[in-house]
Amino acid sequence: MEIDINQIRKDITDYGEKIFLNSAGSSLMPKSVVQEINRYLLEEEKFGGYSVAELKTNEIADFYNQTAQLIGAEAHNIAFTHDATDAYIKALSSIHFKHNDIIITTDDDYASNHIQFISLQKRFGIKIVRIKNLENGELDMIDFQKLVDKHNPKLVAVTHVPTNSGLIQNIEAIGEICYNQKIIFLLDACQSVGQLSINVTKIKCDFLTATGRKFLRGPRGTGFLFISDRLLKNGFSPLMIDGGGAVWKAIDQFDILENAKRFETWEAPYALIMGFREAIRYANNIGLENIQSYNQKLMLRLRENLIGIQGVKLFDKGLKNCNILTFRKDGKSLAKIKEKLNSNNVFFSVSRKEWGVIDFNKKGIDWVIRLSPHYFNTIEEIDNVSKIIDEI
Ligand SMILES: Cc1ncc(COP(=O)(O)O)c(C=O)c1O
Repeated sequence: MEIDINQIRKDITDYGEKIFLNSAGSSLMPKSVVQEINRYLLEEEKFGGYSVAELKTNEIADFYNQTAQLIGAEAHNIAFTHDATDAYIKALSSIHFKHNDIIITTDDDYASNHIQFISLQKRFGIKIVRIKNLENGELDMIDFQKLVDKHNPKLVAVTHVPTNSGLIQNIEAIGEICYNQKIIFLLDACQSVGQLSINVTKIKCDFLTATGRKFLRGPRGTGFLFISDRLLKNGFSPLMIDGGGAVWKAIDQFDILENAKRFETWEAPYALIMGFREAIRYANNIGLENIQSYNQKLMLRLRENLIGIQGVKLFDKGLKNCNILTFRKDGKSLAKIKEKLNSNNVFFSVSRKEWGVIDFNKKGIDWVIRLSPHYFNTIEEIDNVSKIIDEI
């Protein structure tokens, strides 16, 4: 179905003359998201947070329904988190790592994930093994199967879409192997949720982590964690759990909650949850298939335009790309490119080596410009930004 771009643009406050291409950073919220947050805060101002939360039980519960619908899960599999990293940390902390346990991951995983693996390595002596990439940037599935057979890993952790490239990893193939061999599969979907249609039943992951502010167009300080029934039934819960996720039953004993809320802490920013719920409802209403197919058209045009500009080099690998595009231009400094884009009111970001050390080392560079259009952008804007880049 065609999306109604005019309406979607009207739903943004003061879009104005800018060209906003930073949804992989922190996107533009629909105005209804901000309205929901404000409405809830006003109630808290008048009645105090506890009474409002009690009055709004149904609306709060709907956050879990909307999120479940977004990724093809059930509401009981969803926990609210404060960002994607909070979700990731809680997921990792629920795994009973022992000395010499193996984590299989990729060269393209998010920096903070690598930092956490290194931290586990230092504290518990776990080992990190990385799947080889094929020439085209995709994961080498033959290598993956070999690593699984050789190491019998405790965890497989893969980032769906890396922060600094439009690469889409073949996560269904990873999920199939993990599922069949009963290995825990942790999927970082921070950059894919909101721009790609995602179904956890098809992916067969055990954990999925996501953030609110990027392609989901929610407020900052929001995220969620999906936990599979398999893990819930097996009692997985965060190492550090509080009275929101567990009930203190006796001096030395607590019971964890039945559902994924055992991964939450008791205190929560309910106004933001209301805004996040609205952002997810908004995306669900347009339909992720529709968003994805419109986005593909935008990106096809942007990639075609930029490939045609002399000196522009794109750094995205993989057979399938999405709404992150990274580039540099021969002989043009970072300062020069930034200056040109800023002076033309283009919103973008710079990805630097510390956010993807292995990938940047392979590419032999230490920065790229990242453009991340989303379904509120138009083909006209894509052509305009291409002209601006041509003029640099
Ligand atoms: C692939 C990926 N994973 C995880 C994160 C972390 O997200 P958050 O800052 O919401 O914790 C990011 C942030 O850019 C990301 O790009």
